[in-house]
Amino acid sequence: MHDQNSLQAIISLEGRTALVTGAGSGIGKASAATLAAAGATVYCGDLLEETAQSTAAEIRSLGGKAVGCGLDISDRAQVNAFVERAIAETGRLDIACNIAGMMSESKVLDITEGDLDQMLQVNLKGALFVSQAAGKFMSENGGGSIINMASTAVLAPSPDIAVYAMTKAALVQMTKTMSVEVGKYGVRVNTIAPGFVPTKMTSRYYTAPDGTEDAAMKEMVLKPMAKFAPLRRVGTPDDIAHAVLYLASDLSSFVTGQLLAPNGGVAGVS
Ligand SMILES: NC(=O)c1ccc[n+]([C@@H]2O[C@H](COP(=O)([O-])OP(=O)(O)OC[C@H]3O[C@@H](n4cnc5c(N)ncnc54)[C@H](O)[C@@H]3O)[C@@H](O)[C@H]2O)c1
Repeated sequence: MHDQNSLQAIISLEGRTALVTGAGSGIGKASAATLAAAGATVYCGDLLEETAQSTAAEIRSLGGKAVGCGLDISDRAQVNAFVERAIAETGRLDIACNIAGMMSESKVLDITEGDLDQMLQVNLKGALFVSQAAGKFMSENGGGSIINMASTAVLAPSPDIAVYAMTKAALVQMTKTMSVEVGKYGVRVNTIAPGFVPTKMTSRYYTAPDGTEDAAMKEMVLKPMAKFAPLRRVGTPDDIAHAVLYLASDLSSFVTGQLLAPNGGVAGVS
């Protein structure tokens, strides 16, 4: 039976090292901040280096431990250098969060080869490169937790984001397969499939032609989504970050190969 101290100890990431890709914005930023608040030293990687640096600086200003790095996950050499830096500087690697991703709009009949290649390169190969580099170290050093970011699009097909959904579905399969390969080394691999969260990525649905966010359009898009969601709201980056914390911490030490879907109940609605 737990008392308050033992429960806090299970959630705590004190002394652990975490990597977060896509840490410059949205769900990645919230996840990096949450892992740091739980005590981890967080390596924040993002294609836009200044955003990764600013996330890390914000975390440090709140008393956390974080390092910001420029990182293109589609480049295996950069991924290896990112993972090796975290290990060299802290001597360990416990948590790897594949949160960086990109979205494109297309129907299956209209997918171009260029779009397919680019989306595979970032959403699938990028996450694979991180999982390989982190997974190798974790397998040889007592275990760890790898967390991949999929989407509700893998549970409820959406007609306009075909390539995106295909790459995210592949990520779910990569997770399941890897989990049965590395479980014996104490490495857990899980996927999160978030529901709709207003972020830079999803702001495309309410961005005016001049590139600014249109408040009226935003309300028009979000209101019906919230109305039809069983929990009557869309998500926040923190909603997803809390799922990341669960999968990163020892709270989920018996959980691997799973798909966790914080989505307000929407994927269950037909
Ligand atoms: N927001 C949602 O509703 C939602 C829903 C389901 C899944 N997701 C997934 O959650 C993840 C985070 O999305 P978000 O909504 O926070 O988006 P976001 O656009 O706010 O953040 C994505 C971050 O990834 C970075 N990035 C893109 N390509 C990269 C690359 N090659 N290397 C390194 N960094 C790169 C971007 O610079 C950006 O900072 C994505 O994988 C997305 O598919 C989001």
